[in-house]
Amino acid sequence: MAIKVGTVFNYLQFPNVSKFPFVINKRQDEVFIQKGLFVYTKSNEGFLIGVIEEIVLLNEYFTDALTIKAYNNNNNPNILKGLFPSDDFEFAIAIVKCLGLIKFKDDNLKEIERVQRMTYPASPGKGVYIVEEEILNKFLGFDTKFGLNIGRVKVTNSNANINMNRLLNKHFAILSISGGGKSYLTSILIEELLSRKEDYGTPAIILFDVHGEYIYLKDIPELKNKIKIENISYFQLGIPKLSVYSFKKYQEQISNVQVRELSKYIKKLKRDKNKNSKYTLKDIIEQIENESDGNKSTKQALIGWLAELERLTLFGYQENPILEKVVKNQEITIFNFQNEISIRKKQIIVDYICNRLFELRRTNKIPPFLLIVEEAHQFCPEAAHSKAISKPIIEMLAREGRKFMACLCLISQRPKKLSTTALSQCNSKLVLNVKNPYDLKHLMDSSEAITKEYTSMISSLGVGEMLLMGNAVNYPVFIDVRERKYKPKVDAITLSQSCLIWQKKELK
Ligand SMILES: Nc1ncnc2c1ncn2[C@@H]1O[C@H](COP(=O)(O)OP(=O)(O)OP(=O)(O)O)[C@@H](O)[C@H]1O
Ligand SMILES: [Mg+2]
Repeated sequence: MAIKVGTVFNYLQFPNVSKFPFVINKRQDEVFIQKGLFVYTKSNEGFLIGVIEEIVLLNEYFTDALTIKAYNNNNNPNILKGLFPSDDFEFAIAIVKCLGLIKFKDDNLKEIERVQRMTYPASPGKGVYIVEEEILNKFLGFDTKFGLNIGRVKVTNSNANINMNRLLNKHFAILSISGGGKSYLTSILIEELLSRKEDYGTPAIILFDVHGEYIYLKDIPELKNKIKIENISYFQLGIPKLSVYSFKKYQEQISNVQVRELSKYIKKLKRDKNKNSKYTLKDIIEQIENESDGNKSTKQALIGWLAELERLTLFGYQENPILEKVVKNQEITIFNFQNEISIRKKQIIVDYICNRLFELRRTNKIPPFLLIVEEAHQFCPEAAHSKAISKPIIEMLAREGRKFMACLCLISQRPKKLSTTALSQCNSKLVLNVKNPYDLKHLMDSSEAITKEYTSMISSLGVGEMLLMGNAVNYPVFIDVRERKYKPKVDAITLSQSCLIWQKKELK
C-alpha cells in the first residue's frame, strides 16, 4: 500500500515542469518527511517521481508583526494560545525536484518499462506518495541481486547496490580531499568484488597501492587466497618486451638518431639464437661496445644513457612478476609502492604495467580487468609542465580500454591536477567531500550532472558520505558508505598515540 504524505498545491509560481510543491500531511506516523526523500505523484503524463529538495514551514499567524508583538508582550502566552490556535495554522510545504516519469509495464505498478523526461507539471490537488524501495532501486538503476553493496541511500536508508556492469563499463573516478575516505571506499569495492559468487562473473583487479594501505587484505582469512601482494622492490621490467621507443620514453635525452641506432642493435640481439630472446640492458650495452662500425659519439652517448637506466635496477631479461600469470579472474594483484620514493621509477613501473596489461588484454591473454590507480594525479597529471612518463598510456586506457573490457578507476585528492582527458572518460564518479573551489569547478566542468546545488552539498559531506553519479546510476544519489566488513588488525592510530610510541622509542 502506497503511503500518502501530502497533496500537490499552488505555491509561488509552482508547480512547473521541473518542480512541484506539496503540503505535507499533518499526521505522519509512518514516515518522517525529510529533504532527500523520494516521492511520486500522478500527473497527466504518468507517474512523476522526484526528490524533496526543500522544506518550508509556514504559519499565517506569524506573518504579521503586530500579532507577534501582542504574543510576546503578553505575560502568559498560554492564554493567547487559547485565543489564537496558532499551532493549528502551522503547515509544512515540501518542494520537490522532478527527476523523471516512470512508465510501468502493467497496472501492478511493479515492473518499470522505461523512465523518461517529464514535459508537463504535476497537477495541484493530486496526492503525493513515498516511492517504495523496490521501485526506487529500479528507478535509480541499482541491482539488488548481483550489485556491489557500498552502503545505504541517504534518507530513504535503502541498500545501495551498484550494478557492477554499469560501474565498470566506462571507467570511474573516486575523488575527495585528503582523508575524505577514498581508500576506505575502494577497500569496500574490493571486498564486494572479491566476495561475489563465482558464477556471477568478476574481473581481475590490479591496484597500484602507493602507501601500502591495502596490504592488510592479505591477513583476512576469507580473502587471502584471492590476494597477491607484489612488492615493487622486486619488480623487473622485461627488456625484450620493450619497444625501442620505450627506451626514449624512460630516458628522454636519447635523440631520434640514437633511437634508430639502438633499434639496429636490438634487432641483432633478437636474431641472436644463443640469447633466445633473453637479453638485458647489459647485453645491449655490450652489443654496442662490441660493434665495430657506427658513429663513435652516438654509440658513446647511447651507452651513457643506457648505463644510467641500468642504475635504476629495474630491468631484467624477463619481467617479474610475469603479468600474464598473476592476473586472474576475481583475484587482486596489489603492487605495493610503499618503499619507493623515486617518482620517476614509480612512473616507469606504472607505465610498463599499464602497457603490458593493455597489450595482454587486447590479445585476450588475460581476463577483463579493473585497474585501480591510487594517487592518480602522480601518474597522470594535467599540467603540461609536469610531464609524467605514465600519462600517455593511462590516457590511452581511458580512451580505448572500454572496448577491450579494461576498466580504469582513478583515485585522486586533486581532481584539478588530474588529466582532463582521463577524468572526462571516467563516466561514473564517486565523490566524497571536496572543498577546494577550483576542484569543484573542475568537477562541474567535467560532468553535466553536477549542478551548483550539488557542489555546495559535496563540500559539506562528512566522512563516509558520498555522491554517486554518472553511468553507474540513472540519477545522482547521496549514499552513506557502509563500514568495512574486513578490518585491518591495527586500526588507524591517532596523532597523540603516535607521539607516545615515539616517546617510548626515544627512552629506550
Ligand atoms: N565509510 C566510513 N566509515 C567509517 N570510517 C571511515 C569511512 N570512510 C573513511 N573513514 C575513516 O576516515 C579515515 C580516512 O579515510 P581514507 O584513508 O580512506 O582517506 P583518503 O581519502 O584515502 O585520504 P588520502 O587522500 O590522504 O589517501 C580513515 O581512517 C577511515 O577510518
Ligand atoms: Mg587514500
